[in-house]
Amino acid sequence: MNTITSVAPGTSKADGYKQVYSQLSELIQGESDFLANAANTVSLLFSTLPELNWIGFYFLHGNELVLGPFQGKPACSRIPLGKGVCGAAAAKRETVIVPDVNQFAGHITCDTASKSEVAVPLLNWGRLLGVLDVDSPVLNRFDEDDAEGLESLMSLFLSSLATNDLPDFEALASNANA
Ligand code: SME
Repeated sequence: MNTITSVAPGTSKADGYKQVYSQLSELIQGESDFLANAANTVSLLFSTLPELNWIGFYFLHGNELVLGPFQGKPACSRIPLGKGVCGAAAAKRETVIVPDVNQFAGHITCDTASKSEVAVPLLNWGRLLGVLDVDSPVLNRFDEDDAEGLESLMSLFLSSLATNDLPDFEALASNANA
């Protein structure tokens, strides 16, 4: 059984992300299964980081992002590359911070409670695997400190995976289009 400690109110973002990093390290060390680690990663982040209403993975299958493990309300299953905040982060291969989702042209609404959002691309040795999408019910919730913290959590998540445990995304895409 893992003991989870939420980031205490008033903790600096840098310290908060350090605390979550060490909890994630403990949680996924010794496990190389992609789906198990993806599911535990979003559960831990949702349980520890403040002011979130949704967090989840979208994985790249062909030219689409397809919903993976998440916490929060049911969300859209597929997002074309380049569409919405997630599609923009995937296409640019850069973290996209959206202070106010209503000001982002093409934002895709899944949960009307979401007011601000950040999407972080998952890059494994230069190969785009998908994005981590994080929503908050608070405007302007995410800044560069969050981008940095989430990017380092995603590096840790990806480093926990044995290369041969990564899903065969090409095969998934051809099955989906068959
Ligand atoms: N808002 C995202 C869609 C995913 S949901 O927020 C869970 C977007 O614009 O890509």
